Amino acid sequence: MAQVIVVTSGKGGVGKTTTSAAFSTGLAQSGKKVVVIDFDVGLRNLDLIMGVERRVVFDIVNVISGEAKLSQALIRDKRVETLSILPASQTRDKDALTKEGVAKIIEELSKEFDYIICDSPAGIEKGALLALYFADQALIVTNPEVSSVRDSDRILGVLQSKSKRAEEKKEPVKEHLVVTRYDAARVEKGEMLKLEDIQEILAIPLLGVIPESESVLRASNTGNPVILDEVSNAGVAYKDAVARFLGDERPMKFIDAEKKGFFSRLFGGRAA
Ligand SMILES: Nc1ncnc2c1ncn2[C@@H]1O[C@H](COP(=O)(O)OP(=O)(O)OP(=O)(O)O)[C@@H](O)[C@H]1O
Ligand SMILES: [Mg+2]
Repeated sequence: MAQVIVVTSGKGGVGKTTTSAAFSTGLAQSGKKVVVIDFDVGLRNLDLIMGVERRVVFDIVNVISGEAKLSQALIRDKRVETLSILPASQTRDKDALTKEGVAKIIEELSKEFDYIICDSPAGIEKGALLALYFADQALIVTNPEVSSVRDSDRILGVLQSKSKRAEEKKEPVKEHLVVTRYDAARVEKGEMLKLEDIQEILAIPLLGVIPESESVLRASNTGNPVILDEVSNAGVAYKDAVARFLGDERPMKFIDAEKKGFFSRLFGGRAA
């Protein structure tokens, strides 16, 4: 049986799709069979970040409505053999996604894959609820700012009350905190929330801290998940998070501001 992992946040624009792309690519690089599903109907983005937008023929809504077979809609990644992508549709009709339809897709994918990653849309409306409903585990993507932490807290409540596991009174969804766009220098200046404060409020295990990094934009513009950029800070941080998820112990990086030396203070250092 596959493990279903939802990547969710409540708040929009915090890095869910970036994390879904990086995390699924990283898991697949470790040899796991992984499929990543875009649940953001109407605003699909994952295909762009994964660099497969020109190969989208059918999407999840076509499969649910019976216009295409699941195998016709799945796109095999060209870089990592064990990775597939199920794109969202561009349709405005969000009702096209039904619980029964998604259940059938997840059941079918479970036979073939080890991990099913669900990239949730923002909010706590229907699309986000469907993305998390079947989850066994959740990556809670949070930025170091009050509004993001508050929305993550709300989504944790939803996971604990509205998921299939909650409804069936099974073992709760296993939650992991992924703090993204962390800028240690700004945290030190008091402009952003400290990691410890975020952890104290949300009180779930920390899986990774992804630093604010220009490489993320570069990666999404070229359609290469940032985890494939092995020299970038964000790529390294995502690789560590995947390794921790698979049971490795690794120290957190990029959580302290770089102590600037005399010359970089003098001439202005630039972080990668
Ligand atoms: N670590 C990072 N460093 C710098 N920029 C980042 C980082 N993570 C994400 N971003 C940028 O933040 C923006 C939002 O990212 P992304 O699309 O992954 O968020 P999202 O949560 O999926 O958004 P939505 O809620 O709209 O689906 C993008 O422009 C992305 O490039
Ligand atoms: Mg997104």
